[in-house]
Amino acid sequence: MASVPEPRAAIYPGSFDPITNGHLDLIKRASRQFEELVVAVLRHDTKAAEFPLADRLEMIRDAVAGLDNVRVGSFDGLLVDYARRQGARLILRGIRAVSDYEYELQMALMNRKLAPEIETIFMLPGETFTYLSSRLVKEVCRHGGQIDDLVPPHVADRLRAMRRR
Ligand code: PNS
Repeated sequence: MASVPEPRAAIYPGSFDPITNGHLDLIKRASRQFEELVVAVLRHDTKAAEFPLADRLEMIRDAVAGLDNVRVGSFDGLLVDYARRQGARLILRGIRAVSDYEYELQMALMNRKLAPEIETIFMLPGETFTYLSSRLVKEVCRHGGQIDDLVPPHVADRLRAMRRR
């Protein structure tokens, strides 16, 4: 008898400080490829986050509200331990340009060393998002630039509110 493949869950980890249209594009693409997608926000990072964890989670939840197989969670410690706890054997990362590759390669190989049963897979966001990063969006907003095409509307509102503080 042919074996039935296990349901495939993938983890999409990151800082999401804040979620951009590039992240959202990748989430939508991935939600069509996997049974379940867990967007996993790193709680504490060495780089100080602009938005508190609760705000980052809320912004992602609002952005993915229409996607039934997407869950949002947060983690501390090693990503592979979180993936194991979630029963996921796939880590998903987006690669925008060659400049992302070296960092991603190091992380993927370290994660493989720590957890050989977990695979990292890469997807490309839509080419219009190649230049987009949370860091640049924050910088553009801080200096009064237009961010409406770069992030979902509720995220743009939060960024502008932050600028006014
Ligand atoms: O959006 P980012 O900041 O590029 O995401 C980086 C992230 C969260 C995926 C990475 O920092 C991470 O997985 N941190 C958890 C700690 C860990 O598992 N480190 C060992 C793997 S290199």
